[in-house]
Amino acid sequence: MKGKDLLSISDLSSEDIRLLISDAVDMKAGGWLSVLSGKTLALLFDKPSLRTRVSFEVAMRQLGGHTIYLSPAEVGLGKRESVPDVAQVLSRYVDAIAARTFSHQTLEILASYSSVPVINALSDLEHPCQALADLFTIYEKKGELDGLTLAFVGDGNNVAHSLLLAASLAGMNFRIASPSGYRVQDRILHLAQEYAVDSGAEIFCTEEPRLAVSEADVVYTDVWTSMGQEAEAEQRRQIFANYQVNSELLSLAREDAILLHPLPAHHGEEVAEGILDSPKSVVFDQAENRMHVQKALLAEILGGLEIPLAGYR
Ligand code: CP
Ligand code: NVA
Repeated sequence: MKGKDLLSISDLSSEDIRLLISDAVDMKAGGWLSVLSGKTLALLFDKPSLRTRVSFEVAMRQLGGHTIYLSPAEVGLGKRESVPDVAQVLSRYVDAIAARTFSHQTLEILASYSSVPVINALSDLEHPCQALADLFTIYEKKGELDGLTLAFVGDGNNVAHSLLLAASLAGMNFRIASPSGYRVQDRILHLAQEYAVDSGAEIFCTEEPRLAVSEADVVYTDVWTSMGQEAEAEQRRQIFANYQVNSELLSLAREDAILLHPLPAHHGEEVAEGILDSPKSVVFDQAENRMHVQKALLAEILGGLEIPLAGYR
């Protein structure tokens, strides 16, 4: 993984995912404190963030490195300065770039002109760091991934895309219930279906949330309106009205099912008021795990790790 970009989950193999989860287990147990001493990560963000920014900043600091946060106003990516020029200049200063962009294409241009690794910190197409933290959280709670069933209820968005690809690589069954017109992209679905041939994962797309959630081990949802789609918010509230995860829907999942959400949540929309504070919800562990899995990712990409001692293989 050393020196590689992470723009999409498809940049990883199933072995890479296993290694990152194994490393994250060790990171969470307090390992590898100074392996990135002297390294600098640029955080180039075109959209707001709480978890991604803070977890990357703390992760780098705990590994002995540094970050430089660049807000939309500071850089003017593609406005004040072209994306290729920003990539080439930043590459002269820092060891890696984590970028949050509106368009995935911007991220691809950034990576193609950058001589240092570029990590997708969320684009309109994917959110791979989130999916890695999600798999780590599920592994931590369930002790396995292979053969479990995850039900995603809602928009076939960036979070759904990365999770679908990651689940398919890891052998976890993936069911998704989305309204017509809001399904995952065909290209991502076909790629996931190819992975599933090897991993044995089953993929099922439906418009009916109850079908997806029935007897699931993991229930997952995300906002109906993602960043950049604010003008569609009212229309989306109507279209997704029957896709709320509430206690009635959750009761169809397995007794020991867990509930995940990448956050930020819109309480009373995609999740009923209070449901993220209910016993099945693991969303704050999930948010914490962003940091542990990103420490693993940074250490692998920047070449800071030896063979881990223990964990998930
Ligand atoms: N889940 C997530 O990426 O959160 P932020 O937008 O706050 O970074
Ligand atoms: N789908 C959401 C995820 C936020 C972490 C968005 O893109 O806004």
